[in-house]
Amino acid sequence: MKYSRITGTGSYLPPRRLTNADLVAELAAKGVETSDDWIVERTGIRARHFAADGVFSSDLGLAAGKKALEAAGRTAEDVDLIIVATSTPDMVFPSTACILQNKLGANGCAAFDVQAVCSGFVYALAVADSMVKTGAAKCALVVGAEIFSRILDFNDRTTCVLFGDGAGAVVLEASDTPGILSSDLHADGKHVGILCVPGHVSGGAILGDPLLKMDGQAVFKLAVGLLESAARATLAKANLTEADIDWLVPHQANIRIMQSTARKLKLSMDKVVVTVDQHGNTSAASIPLALDVGVRSGQVKPGQTLLLEGVGGGFTWGALLLIL
Ligand code: ACO
Repeated sequence: MKYSRITGTGSYLPPRRLTNADLVAELAAKGVETSDDWIVERTGIRARHFAADGVFSSDLGLAAGKKALEAAGRTAEDVDLIIVATSTPDMVFPSTACILQNKLGANGCAAFDVQAVCSGFVYALAVADSMVKTGAAKCALVVGAEIFSRILDFNDRTTCVLFGDGAGAVVLEASDTPGILSSDLHADGKHVGILCVPGHVSGGAILGDPLLKMDGQAVFKLAVGLLESAARATLAKANLTEADIDWLVPHQANIRIMQSTARKLKLSMDKVVVTVDQHGNTSAASIPLALDVGVRSGQVKPGQTLLLEGVGGGFTWGALLLIL
């Protein structure tokens, strides 16, 4: 079997949902001023979900992964590879993938994390695709899971209104018919400072600031151009053009970035899966979450051509083209 193909999708959002009004009220109580109008106009975000204390990325990823396996008609015993894309792991080590593997009962299969922030799921799926195509794995569970609420500075209104928690997953299997057609991954470490959580653990203490820092305008300017170039490179590798795309499933950071990318690719917004309004930016979870929402709503159908694309801290960016 020379191809890899997505055979099931799943997602999970923690039950606590905060509308902009809820968040505005919570922040006002701390003396931090923002508004529903500002958040909606600048980002398109209307609500996000936050995980409860004691819940970890592996728990969200497990719930999403179980749904993806069910949709694929597979069980934990079938899984021979687990990759979790996350920047909010349960622990420093072991990997969240190992913790999730044990909770799922898939003990013994290969399991590791990929850390590429909001591009993490595109990176993880591209790695799983390579492993399935070389025969190293037959049935991979690829998960994006994040609890960004734990690394937000709720005194910084320029970042804390943007992010949410959640998880999405796909089952990727060896196939005789094409699924993943091409991918294009990049990173440029000179931009570390525009989007980072600079703190680290040392000598039993956290050194440096363990909360998210972002130069939003710098991220915005870089994101649009890089997403377009990755999208075009991915299409070229598969000898396809923008006209062949049925659905763009972008990282859900900001509706204005998604609109700009769609415009550059000459795609109508009717062909873009949008969940940022309800989820906020869930980093590595946002693409598989959006994909699952699209599939389960019946919008995104088997046989259609999808372009997934993401950009995030690192700076990292990438795109992946597939037939569902
Ligand atoms: N509520 C009210 N006012 C605010 C808020 C807020 N939450 N945040 C900022 N403002 C104010 C600023 O203080 C500023 O006021 P001033 O003009 O009096 O100085 C004004 O709004 C405009 O601020 P800007 O930063 O210029 O706003 P901008 O239009 O650039 O929007 C935003 C900010 C939404 C962050 C935008 O830059 C953006 O979306 N950037 C990309 C972010 C992104 O996608 N990040 C995720 C990348 S993926 C990853 O790896 C995590």
